[in-house]
Amino acid sequence: MRSPIKTLSSRVSTTFVPTLYQDVAPLSEEIIGKIRDRLEQLYEADWQDARQGVYPESLLFDNPWEDFFRYYPGVLVDMPLIWQRILQKQYQQFDEPIVRESYPKYYLQNFHFQTNGYLSDQSANLYDLQVELLFNGAADAMRRRVLAPLKQGLGQAVNAAPHSLRILDVACGTGRTLKMLRAMLPQAALFGTDLSPAYLRKANQLLSKISGELPQLTRANAEELPYADHYFDGITCVFLFHELPPPARQAIIDQCYRVTRPGGTFVICDSIQKLDHPEFAEMMDNFPALFHEPYYKNYVTDDLSARLQAAGYEVREIQHHFMSKYWIARKSG
Ligand SMILES: C[S@@+](CC[C@H](N)C(=O)[O-])C[C@H]1O[C@@H](n2cnc3c(N)ncnc32)[C@H](O)[C@@H]1O
Repeated sequence: MRSPIKTLSSRVSTTFVPTLYQDVAPLSEEIIGKIRDRLEQLYEADWQDARQGVYPESLLFDNPWEDFFRYYPGVLVDMPLIWQRILQKQYQQFDEPIVRESYPKYYLQNFHFQTNGYLSDQSANLYDLQVELLFNGAADAMRRRVLAPLKQGLGQAVNAAPHSLRILDVACGTGRTLKMLRAMLPQAALFGTDLSPAYLRKANQLLSKISGELPQLTRANAEELPYADHYFDGITCVFLFHELPPPARQAIIDQCYRVTRPGGTFVICDSIQKLDHPEFAEMMDNFPALFHEPYYKNYVTDDLSARLQAAGYEVREIQHHFMSKYWIARKSG
């Protein structure tokens, strides 16, 4: 279950700063067994979708190993700074010059205790490895669960008019989901938006290496998406909503609704929630303390279906895979 590099990171932390995680309750064998079962189910679903041609099998083996080896020492070197931030309870620390007015206040945080939050190239370089360490290597497999419902929502246009499709990934981060979308929809026009210039630079590095038209990346606050009404056939959004305060969650869903075309599909992937998984409540309580996630506690009880409906979407389906929950919504028309 635990990868050797994750074990190494945890050992380093507990050896050097034994008090760091003293208040975090260890998980029972029963819960660890349940998590392991869910991980196997996730990999099985991923394999089945690839076998059935929803997306190419090559995606299953698309790990950025070179980046991981290159940046793993960076993760270790960053650890003392992270410990210092945890012990001193400093969660809004930015060393690099940033124009604070360009960001909503809720965003200026050291999410995951990351040095410079989302606002440095170093943070963008370490991010994918840190997320894979957190999810034991299953982050990409969880992202891929948005692909099948999106493709289904796009319907016949996938084969009949692939050039006409416009797909947006909101809060695209380092571009992992856009890369998957490009593999599934080689001819669609892809768009990505994020608040972090550094993460967009990293996404551009990744996406410019693959074949097909380069996705259009735009820096924007998703609360004010810079696109025309009814512009997109499909929208995806992965791992964003737990990092937002409630009003921003609604504002972003409202914006996504505005830019979805009638009949278009919106797929959200984010953390599991307490209302569905009381058995994992302890883990969900530990998470925000371990990773500085100030809005997570509210998120795990927030009814995103109600928010989607308030915006005008019809919620077609809810899915759960491993540590994620998926909302598949449609704009009627
Ligand atoms: C946890 S990361 C997820 C990134 C990516 N979707 C993934 O799968 O890894 C959250 C991302 O949301 C972006 N973000 C947070 N608030 C945002 C906002 N209001 N508008 C646009 N992007 C935002 C951050 O810059 C960061 O890249």
